[in-house]
Amino acid sequence: MRVRALSWNDFEGWVELYLTRYEEIGRNPDLGVYLQPTKPTLPEEAALFGQVMKQVLAGDMVASVAEAEGKLVGVCMVARRGHHLEDRHLGDLGIALHPDWRGRGFGDALMRDALEKCRGVFEVVELKVVALNEGALRLYRKHGFEVYGREPRAFKRGDRYLDEILMRRDIEPRNPAAN
Ligand SMILES: CC(C)(COP(=O)(O)OP(=O)(O)OC[C@H]1O[C@@H](n2cnc3c(N)ncnc32)[C@H](O)[C@@H]1OP(=O)(O)O)[C@@H](O)C(=O)NCCC(=O)NCCS
Repeated sequence: MRVRALSWNDFEGWVELYLTRYEEIGRNPDLGVYLQPTKPTLPEEAALFGQVMKQVLAGDMVASVAEAEGKLVGVCMVARRGHHLEDRHLGDLGIALHPDWRGRGFGDALMRDALEKCRGVFEVVELKVVALNEGALRLYRKHGFEVYGREPRAFKRGDRYLDEILMRRDIEPRNPAAN
């Protein structure tokens, strides 16, 4: 397994990984990930991937990927919340592993890499997680995230509503003397 920065060459793997979500929802309707209302077409995926790479190149996103057996099996992204003087220090984190590659420490390694890359880019990282996603909650606690709130019925799939837990952690600035 290798963790590295997202690159332009990852488009195909990124699309494949994203599309597994639609299959998985059929088996696990409580899967706590967000979906586009309809499965994106390849041109739509290209536009979305272009947006992601644009943010990475502009320094407004940190994106780490996990690779195993030559395939992209996980991604962790932290995106700048806004571009105002007052909110550009905040980053929003999301992470997802391919269903066949969970529970092997990849999520842990991805979080470590992404949070290290956040130093000097963001001062606070926040995330939302559906309340019943205990695996993710444990992972986030392990990486220093603390609960600061709960958003009732924030997540709706079909007719079912789930609460979301709001978590955040500070990011230590880079030590200029260490560079
Ligand atoms: C949540 C997710 C990112 C974790 O990644 P992972 O590679 O499976 O996790 P790891 O194997 O690296 O485990 C790291 C830690 O996470 C926690 N954890 C992960 N999955 C867990 C599970 N099913 N049950 C309990 N704890 C779990 C544990 O604290 C574990 O640390 P430990 O081994 O020291 O106890 C991954 O399971 C996933 O992609 N799930 C579906 C998408 C999702 O829910 N994303 C988060 C949306 S907010």
